[in-house]
Amino acid sequence: LNVSIIGVPMDLGQNRRGVDMGPSAIRYAGVVERLKALGHTVKDEGDILISQTREEKSPNTTLRNLEQVIEANTALANKVHSVVTEGEFPLVLGGDHSIAIGTLAGLSDQYENLGVIWYDAHADLNTAETSPSGNIHGMPLAVSIGLGHDDLVNIRDFAPKIKPENIVIIGARSVDPGERELIKEKGIKVFSMHEIDKLGMTEVMNQTMAYFLERKVDGVHLSLDLDGLDPLYTPGVGTPVPGGISYRESHLAMEMLYSSHLITSAEFVEVNPILDEKNRTADAAVALMGSLFGESLI
Ligand code: ARG
Ligand code: MN
Ligand code: MN
Ligand code: MN
Repeated sequence: LNVSIIGVPMDLGQNRRGVDMGPSAIRYAGVVERLKALGHTVKDEGDILISQTREEKSPNTTLRNLEQVIEANTALANKVHSVVTEGEFPLVLGGDHSIAIGTLAGLSDQYENLGVIWYDAHADLNTAETSPSGNIHGMPLAVSIGLGHDDLVNIRDFAPKIKPENIVIIGARSVDPGERELIKEKGIKVFSMHEIDKLGMTEVMNQTMAYFLERKVDGVHLSLDLDGLDPLYTPGVGTPVPGGISYRESHLAMEMLYSSHLITSAEFVEVNPILDEKNRTADAAVALMGSLFGESLI
């Protein structure tokens, strides 16, 4: 593959500082070398420029740093769009999960029927009305199906970006009441920790891939929030939730996705080196990328 790495040092979608250093930590953990060793051509496109101004609450909204989040995601969307147009595989490094708004905006008009895997402890399906926090990193999936602030929903001037029935959430264990309602109303497919415990990761991934084939998707984006894993393995995240996916289960999931040839773009988000232990979370991210891009154990 021709992989284009895009860093997004974004921390404005939530209120804990340090997640803006995620892309550096992931680079430091050796992402470029790891993918090159697998035979891929890797180009580091550098970072999207993020505003250093934070106004907390913008005057007419409860959404934290709304203007800056719109601006950054517009720049990211345009960058992702140009990378995909050139036939390259976009690999986006976060930064908080609000950047999925831009990634999906940049991807989706290149696909007729894009699928999305949301590997996360959270559903990120809040709107201004349902959000308990005002943090936009809890909203990107809602925005991408066309629900939320108009200026977020309409980045690159079209909406929605993806169909609710093309989403598979894996690892959910902290879902707010409004998000639950939306999941039911829109029929979004969720493999919560309950299903992972009960079925095992192999079956969850087999069902996920069968679901996308049934839906006749023409690409699948993997949006992997490092808090999907148990905080035992990825302590450097802003919103850890115990009882998560194990390190080996996550590798298995990535290995199965590699074998499926379904994944056409990916992002790894919420790495916060300030909250981490000796860069373990970025190391885990890079190891998972290794599996996603074709590393095998033997
Ligand atoms: N559901 C909570 C909220 O909306 C937490 C969201 C956490 N999202 C994340 N990408 N880590 O505030
Ligand atoms: Mn286009
Ligand atoms: Mn999360
Ligand atoms: Mn998330």
